[in-house]
Amino acid sequence: MPDQPKIVVGVTGSIAAYKAPELVRLLQKQGWDPWVVMTACATQYVGVLPLRALTKHPVPAGTFADAPPDTYSHLELSAGAAAMVVAPCSAQTLARLAWGFADDMLSATALALEAPLLVAPAMNSRMWRHLAVQENVERLRRRGVRIIPPGSGELACGEQGPGRLADLRDIVRAVQDAMAGT
Ligand SMILES: Cc1cc2nc3c(=O)[nH]c(=O)nc-3n(C[C@H](O)[C@H](O)[C@H](O)COP(=O)(O)O)c2cc1C
Repeated sequence: MPDQPKIVVGVTGSIAAYKAPELVRLLQKQGWDPWVVMTACATQYVGVLPLRALTKHPVPAGTFADAPPDTYSHLELSAGAAAMVVAPCSAQTLARLAWGFADDMLSATALALEAPLLVAPAMNSRMWRHLAVQENVERLRRRGVRIIPPGSGELACGEQGPGRLADLRDIVRAVQDAMAGT
């Protein structure tokens, strides 16, 4: 539907990637049109097929070399987007975004984006607390990127602490706020 805001959803190689289809459903319930882009690593955690079936859009994953010739590019994907949300965002992709790398479809799409960018990190607590990660978070914040902080509790690895992907409803609310400019 052309009148539905286009939301680009970036999915990365975090264990929480299995929540991506549910996030897509929640975004659709808002009347928005989610388009998914994945890192190569993310495809080991969640399949392209359910995301393609849910969104009814192609789901590019990985690098440009992996993309079939008829796949649209990062430029088409970012064009006209109302927002992009990377959820879950791994430490690796956080670093890529913080430093402006464009070496895969997800990071290149984020660089070509002219709309609010939101990042929902998810990782082990020790990784989350690492100064390298915290510096990258601050670097993104300074550029106006909206960080959706991770929650605290039991992590998939069995450890306790901060690093859980934020509640999906909080992510949807953050996207709503970003589009409204609040
Ligand atoms: C089982 C498993 C779970 C992982 N979960 C996470 C995670 O939640 N967050 C994270 O930052 N990295 C996690 N990693 C490491 C990432 O998958 C790895 O850093 C990868 O390079 C991320 O690449 P990407 O950002 O291109 O998807 C995990 C690795 C394994 C083997």
